[in-house]
Amino acid sequence: MALFVVRGGRRLEGEHRVQGAKNSALPVLAAAAAVRGQCVIRNCPDLSDVKATLHILKHLGCKVAREGEIVTVDSTARSGCAIPRRLMREMRSSIVFLGPLLAALGCAELSAPGGCEIGLRPIDLHLEGLRALGVEIAEDGECLTCRVPAGGMRGARFSLSFPSVGATENLMIAACVAKGVTVINNAAREPEIVDLAAFLNACGAKIHGAGEGVILVEGVKGLHGAEHTVIPDRITAVTFLASAAVTGGEVLLRRAAPGHMDATLTMLEQTGCRLRRERGDTLHLKAPARLRQLSTVRTMPYPGFPTDAQAVFMSMAAVAEGTSIFSETIFENRFRHVAELTRMGAKIRVEGRVAVTEGAVRLHGAKVNACDLRAGAALVVAALCAEGTSVINQVHHIDRGCERFEENLRLLGANMIREGNNATDKNGQEGS
Ligand code: EPZ
Repeated sequence: MALFVVRGGRRLEGEHRVQGAKNSALPVLAAAAAVRGQCVIRNCPDLSDVKATLHILKHLGCKVAREGEIVTVDSTARSGCAIPRRLMREMRSSIVFLGPLLAALGCAELSAPGGCEIGLRPIDLHLEGLRALGVEIAEDGECLTCRVPAGGMRGARFSLSFPSVGATENLMIAACVAKGVTVINNAAREPEIVDLAAFLNACGAKIHGAGEGVILVEGVKGLHGAEHTVIPDRITAVTFLASAAVTGGEVLLRRAAPGHMDATLTMLEQTGCRLRRERGDTLHLKAPARLRQLSTVRTMPYPGFPTDAQAVFMSMAAVAEGTSIFSETIFENRFRHVAELTRMGAKIRVEGRVAVTEGAVRLHGAKVNACDLRAGAALVVAALCAEGTSVINQVHHIDRGCERFEENLRLLGANMIREGNNATDKNGQEGS
């Protein structure tokens, strides 16, 4: 099992080029399976979740090639519509292949992704929406067998009871080739949804309103190949800002998307960090000697505060002045970093979905476990400002979403090395 050894106390400063967004690259690559022809996807991050997605595309008969940040997917020879359990278990967000398979082949056989470290992760909204489009779905235990009737999917009006990102993605992709118009009410508004819609429209789809609460899709006969550049990753961007913030440093982010980060940037400014947007895609942060108190952090669907940034902000709150209150409204088990931060000396109390963090603590190095991707990244941020050395185990979780994490942090001055070799966790199940 790979691990990170981090010696805290170094002030981070320098430039960081933000990676492509994991949560945009994954649905865009999956959607390439719905296209007849070749897609060229640029700014594709080098992550284990992306590798897992490319494995599935190859299993489906697509030709896949990678050159640096450019991934080419040719689905001309695409064949079966079944994804084996071993591939589904590599990454739970493989559920986003459901829409593309139905759009491309009119069938899909895959195992329900099941829960992961941060929650049960149900897919009821995905299935309700697909059934509204006329898809016949048989659920047999974990196995999902989906079939589009002979006449094809038909457009429908559908309201999501929760603005689920994954459900919005699956419905938007499937609706591209449904007969007639589909309206998705209470759709997710994340930038990754807008990016996926831009890719699909480049492939000939007719999607309107992505990024607003209501998405309208006019069905077309089929989708053709296209080129697309993935948006910057707003969560790893804020992770690097937090790394500079907790070490009293300063960082210049290049190829960032500050316009996607309002909620987190507002909170960073509250702690006394000085932020400057130099051009459309750069963002400079200068940290104060001491972080001021973070007010209440309540995770919400976009454009609210992103649940994926909650753990990293808790690491900041642990060393900032005053008491901070975190309310996790999206996932039921997303405080797994609390026990690990406590081992580093953080003072955090959890009651259900609320965590109260008493700040102004001098963290100390400890042996801790990365329980999931974002919790693991938060432990690294904490270790960077802790006194002494920390060992962070199970870093394969972090490799799912943070590209060359230790190299990029070392470039900013961090004293951090990777030891051991990578492997998935005991049951191979990854959230995402
Ligand atoms: C996406 O997950 C992201 N993953 C998550 O990032 C992110 O935290 C999440 O959106 C919320 O922003 C990818 O894009 C690959 P949801 P997703 O469907 O689509 C409930 C990371 O660390 N729900 O918006 O699975 C669900 O239980 C990952 O990068 C249902 O009840 O999130 C949860 O409480 C973690 N029924 C809430 O909605 C459904 O059918 C949000 O889930 C679907 C979801």
